[in-house]
Amino acid sequence: MAELASSFIETKAALTVTIEEVRRIADRFRRAMVLGLAGEQSSLKMLPSYLGKPAGSEQGLYLALDFGGTNVRVQLVELLGSGQWVIRQKKAVALKDPQGGYDFTAAQAKAEQLFDFLAAQIAAVADETRDYRLGHTFSFPCYQRGINHAVLIDWTKEIKTTGAKGREVGQLLTEALIRRGLRRVKATAIINDTVGTLLAAAFGDPCADIGAICGTGHNACYYEPARAMIINMESGNFDALPLSRYDEQLDAASEKYGTQRLEKMVSGRYLGELVRLIAVDHLAWHLGANILTAEDLAGIIGGAVPRLRELTQLTAQELSLLQEITQVVVTRSARLVTATFLGVLDYIDPELTDRHTIAVDGSLYEKMPGYANVIKLTLAEALGDKASLVNVKLAKDGSGVGAAIAAAVATGTG
Ligand code: GLC
Repeated sequence: MAELASSFIETKAALTVTIEEVRRIADRFRRAMVLGLAGEQSSLKMLPSYLGKPAGSEQGLYLALDFGGTNVRVQLVELLGSGQWVIRQKKAVALKDPQGGYDFTAAQAKAEQLFDFLAAQIAAVADETRDYRLGHTFSFPCYQRGINHAVLIDWTKEIKTTGAKGREVGQLLTEALIRRGLRRVKATAIINDTVGTLLAAAFGDPCADIGAICGTGHNACYYEPARAMIINMESGNFDALPLSRYDEQLDAASEKYGTQRLEKMVSGRYLGELVRLIAVDHLAWHLGANILTAEDLAGIIGGAVPRLRELTQLTAQELSLLQEITQVVVTRSARLVTATFLGVLDYIDPELTDRHTIAVDGSLYEKMPGYANVIKLTLAEALGDKASLVNVKLAKDGSGVGAAIAAAVATGTG
């Protein structure tokens, strides 16, 4: 074990983000925001959403379609005004059949097939005898020209569905709704999931000005006062980061080399693979690529019974090193994400005088043991006493509820 552990010391140092590094990354992030906003070369796309903060008084019953890359969720959301809502109905289905029956995220799938699948899920929730307005959370980088106009720049999160890049997402959905006979469902707003998360949080909390997803993917948005609009930063593509050789290895084997550098270091889609690459290197362990999931990592950290046979075969010593590797990778993820939050805070409120709520949704933030706490501790370490001005909170179901709010704003029911 002494040998195993000592070989990991160097790797651990390379994967540890010190508070000085957190500050440096925050500063680079702030500068990348400024450049991106000015339309200059930047890894941050800074995409306009055409949505400001909601009034909180929006009302009515809306369909919310949430398509993020792992699951499709359809919800019937009733906005009650005064910052309240109720989810009346909910349906979630995987985009990739665990039994291998279908996979709408593979290169063999066409955009029309994917959107027909989305329309089929909507049909299961919508009552044919009434009209609906639908808000669509589409969690990929899009150029927007208005609340209801979004063109897919490119897939992220290893999605490979053909024929969607460069297409107008609302049109793809509307055509699928028509093919399905759902003429009474009108898609009225398209938003990013980060924007949905911020809208949902800001519905009842005026201090909410940053929204983020820490799940399969990673991204953040913020409210830009100068434009009275929420900006989707596509921060998963931020790249001024201290990369280790494992990050290089992972990137080289990914679908799109050189893109989404931050996302590949922090999000649930990639953390298992990072741990596997490090473990294979230090434990002479054989485990196929992309087998370890973020849930497996949560189990490893939490000491749960392993799902994978390969994990049950490790000795107690090996398992303990694997646990340490996982902890280091997960902690790095939370610290890097916090560094970007600090960058945004520094941009919107340089003296940090106001209260800010950072709304976060996603499985990693919600379920990975210790993750939310590392974010909190890192903020405290960086901000000292002023950390009490910053409230990071879980905005569960935010992206779906946010879609309903966006549909309401587009319809003008404030
Ligand atoms: C990816 C997408 C981004 C989304 C994030 C979280 O980074 O590019 O649009 O917000 O995943 O789902």
